Amino acid sequence: MAHVKRITVIGTGYLGAVHAAAMASLGYEVLGMDVDSEKIAALAAGRPPFYEPGFDELLTEQVASGRLSFTDSYAEVAAFGGEDRADTVHFVCVNTPQRKGEYAADTTYIERVIDGLGPLLDRPALVIGKSTVPAGTAARLTTRLHEISPAGTQMRLAWNPEFLREGYAVEDTLRPDRLVIGVQDEQSEQDLREVYAPLLAADIPLLVTDLATSELVKTAANAFLSTKISFINAMAEVCEAAGADVMQLSKALSLDPRIGGRFLVPGLGFGGGCLPKDIRAFMARAGELGADQALAFLKEVDAINMRRRARTVELAREQCDGSLLGKRVAVWGAAFKPDTDDVRDSPALNVAASILLQGAQVTVYDPKANDNAAKNFPTLSYAASALEAARDADVILHLTEWREFRELDPAEVGKVVAEHRVVDGRNALDPDRWRAAGWTYRALGRP
Ligand SMILES: NC(=O)c1ccc[n+]([C@@H]2O[C@H](COP(=O)([O-])OP(=O)(O)OC[C@H]3O[C@@H](n4cnc5c(N)ncnc54)[C@H](O)[C@@H]3O)[C@@H](O)[C@H]2O)c1
Repeated sequence: MAHVKRITVIGTGYLGAVHAAAMASLGYEVLGMDVDSEKIAALAAGRPPFYEPGFDELLTEQVASGRLSFTDSYAEVAAFGGEDRADTVHFVCVNTPQRKGEYAADTTYIERVIDGLGPLLDRPALVIGKSTVPAGTAARLTTRLHEISPAGTQMRLAWNPEFLREGYAVEDTLRPDRLVIGVQDEQSEQDLREVYAPLLAADIPLLVTDLATSELVKTAANAFLSTKISFINAMAEVCEAAGADVMQLSKALSLDPRIGGRFLVPGLGFGGGCLPKDIRAFMARAGELGADQALAFLKEVDAINMRRRARTVELAREQCDGSLLGKRVAVWGAAFKPDTDDVRDSPALNVAASILLQGAQVTVYDPKANDNAAKNFPTLSYAASALEAARDADVILHLTEWREFRELDPAEVGKVVAEHRVVDGRNALDPDRWRAAGWTYRALGRP
């Protein structure tokens, strides 16, 4: 390949849409493709189909520049660049959810992309996977791509796992901690070095690996982060039993530079479209490879995480004198974490739904995720503000740590509730401030 000039991005969700706009901002001509035509129409009009800080401006700017366009057609992806289409590389960013009823990852969406695009690529091309996949997927897809692409074309496949965090996706895409590329040939490495030349010029470390290692780096990173969160949450369980304070424990641990404080905040635990399904898929794949014992601990990591949700429900019940029946419960937060509208496997909504099933009337407020939450949990009630959700509440549950909630004045909130009771599922409110304003404050892992 002479010089990479154009990029296509297949799958324009939380990862792909940001990747597409970020690549356009580096000067490439970019075509984003998705099977969801509503999403494509919104993106093409410069309207983000989801909330991500900074993405609105980036998208508007790049669509207006003419460098970023969108389609729902594989044929347009294959033909992107016309006669010069050999200078185009194709990124695959589709979803890899948990298979129904199993731990394993469902890779059928990626297979559909290979099957849909492969036969249409009539020039040598580089296809780069970014989705999170079980080790061995890229090798399998390479064989498939070779089988179905037109005779004489030299298709290459590489893997370039993505580490972005929702809430910081734009920043993480343009200034990642590291780039990892799994390649099978020198040309693919050269092409990827070229794609990311502006980032490499800014001294972002690049690690070149084989395919399986690149796939594993991503799942290992998620396994480590989940373990760190569940470790401190296990300590919270012990603190609850011993009458100790896990926040003080966590602070003391974090001052040891070998441990560090990131991902060591005890609370309701992790959720979202990545960590839970990725650790389960990792366990499933290790089992297939005969290495199941190596990851047996992740089952406990998962179990500790899920127990925090149950414990939060219990704390709410304790606050309501032992029964949630007929109680009015305000839930602050619906997104799986702050600064996103993503509600996939959201701990907040899991707790809200369990409380509803125990006969309470639950009113949820999230600064950005009310609409997504209502689509998934239409039987919960939704409010337009934190105060509206809190009106006449018997207890408030703080379940997603948006800054907005920390900044609320407990005395003001106290004027609208029925009872001054709060459960801080994220250990993010200031207990002294809330108690001083007359509240009964309860939090996970604290007396
Ligand atoms: N969201 C994150 O923070 C993040 C971070 C790192 C890695 N990842 C990984 O990236 C991948 C995508 O995650 P996401 O959060 O963007 O998911 P998403 O569900 O938001 O987006 C996936 C998109 O792919 C589209 N799609 C599905 N099948 C398609 C097909 N055959 N052709 C074209 N488009 C198709 C869907 O319509 C959807 O818009 C997953 O493997 C995920 O684990 C996500």
